[in-house]
Amino acid sequence: MTFEAITPRFGSGVAEGRVRIFDTTLRDGEQAPGAGLTAAEKLEVARQLARLKVDVIEAGFPSASPGDFEAVRRIALETKGGIAVAALARCRDGDPQRAVEAIGVAERPHLHLFIATSDIHLKHKLRMSRDEALKEAVRWVKWAREALGRDAELEFSAEDASRTEHSFLLDVYEAVTEAGASTLNIPDTVGYAIPSEFGRLVGDVRQRIGTAATISVHCHNDLGLATANTLAAVQAGARQVEVTINGLGERAGNASLEEVVMALRTRPAQFPDLAAGVATEQITAASRLVSYLTGFAIQPNKAIVGANAFAHESGIHQDGYLKNPLTYEIMTPQSVGLAGSTLSIGKLSGRRGLQGKLRELGHEVEGEQLDVLYRAAIALADAKKEVTDADLLALVDQGKTDVPSSITLLNWSISSSSGGHSTGSVSLVVDGEPHAGEATGNGPVNALFKAVDEAIRPIVHWNPVLTEYEIKAVSAGEDAQGQVLARCRRSSDEGPSALIMTGHGLSTNIIEASLEAYLVAANKLHGAEINGITAAFVGQRSGAELP
Ligand code: KIV
Ligand code: ZN
Repeated sequence: MTFEAITPRFGSGVAEGRVRIFDTTLRDGEQAPGAGLTAAEKLEVARQLARLKVDVIEAGFPSASPGDFEAVRRIALETKGGIAVAALARCRDGDPQRAVEAIGVAERPHLHLFIATSDIHLKHKLRMSRDEALKEAVRWVKWAREALGRDAELEFSAEDASRTEHSFLLDVYEAVTEAGASTLNIPDTVGYAIPSEFGRLVGDVRQRIGTAATISVHCHNDLGLATANTLAAVQAGARQVEVTINGLGERAGNASLEEVVMALRTRPAQFPDLAAGVATEQITAASRLVSYLTGFAIQPNKAIVGANAFAHESGIHQDGYLKNPLTYEIMTPQSVGLAGSTLSIGKLSGRRGLQGKLRELGHEVEGEQLDVLYRAAIALADAKKEVTDADLLALVDQGKTDVPSSITLLNWSISSSSGGHSTGSVSLVVDGEPHAGEATGNGPVNALFKAVDEAIRPIVHWNPVLTEYEIKAVSAGEDAQGQVLARCRRSSDEGPSALIMTGHGLSTNIIEASLEAYLVAANKLHGAEINGITAAFVGQRSGAELP
């Protein structure tokens, strides 16, 4: 199998023996219902994607909301080192202009234009003829090439390509290439394709276009085939793959970055050295961060990043593994950032020891962040017998949540008795003023949440309504830290488009962790209200308008 370089008339192309890794966690991934991130959280994920050395970070959809515009702009400003920053735009007046404005500050801007081309989308969604869609596509590609200049990457997606009439689809791709597109993306928008068929489609586009544009694929996972389709596409000539961390994305998600990248790595004979650029040892850290910030847990048997991906349970497997790991492992845990533990952290450990340990776990921390983590780790070592890797990772995660803090906790107390009745009280500072609340509930957590409601309602005029509440022990043992996730909406914001915010709490005291999580969610909701941010800001956008 040979892979030649792609050298389009415009943009940067792709060197021989390379596949461009285009990460869309912050755009398509964030479209997963309830996965919304604040601008600062998006920036945190973008930094981890930069450590992972992806080629392109699709940072968002600037015309969806002022918040998304701002997030894309901040990521575009900060991202360096040859990593491109992409923004999505419909072929519709206003969108491309806004996207170009947001990515114009990037070292390597990458504009991603799309329009639906399948009859079902044209008839029912866009109410356009094929001809009209083709004209709009060409018009906006020409406009964008003019606005961006020769060197910027200009990508065009034919939404629902895999259900588009074949010869019309090829005509669209040819026309937009002539108009200035440098990358042609083939989305399997509803995850309908199967690998052999999708590979043929990619091959046909490749044959029609030659090396005049880089061919990209964007596969959804509705039939569980997103990774398989993506790999079939690479073998048929695609040189950009659009993927997300943990396979996050609309409905059943997108092709997962870790699966695609590790498949390219693990089977070099099938894909000669195609994913050379990715720092795979950063995969685990990226996966944990995205799972934590979005509140989307990773299933234990998830390929590459699931808790069981490198665990061996049965005697036969353990025996074989101990004799030679290659018997049951096709890649090493170290290659995805799961380094075996060699340093342990206790009360007498120093800052450097902690920094080294965190480096082993895939986190580079220094300065103020290291000081904060060090104080937390030492306090934890006082509270529990053994500080495990999981404890340290949970502390790192906790420090990454971006929390506006106009509601802060001074203290709390609870009295609880058998039969479940509890009375809780809290003292808070809300917008600079002290406020207290007391309430009864059917358990300690319920009573304290109600006490918070009572304390904040006179100021904010709503209370948080829990939509999800989860407790998990970070490690084993009765002194384990409890990690709590609380998802809430405002009582004044109802219906399917209500803004939902995620809060986390971490403590060896599960009641304190719950209170912390509830207050983080309340603070985010309050901050969003002050800044006029609606569900659209954080990716919980109305489906009809969006890819
Ligand atoms: O799934 C899809 O079609 C998309 C496009 C915008 C690429 O997300
Ligand atoms: Zn998509």
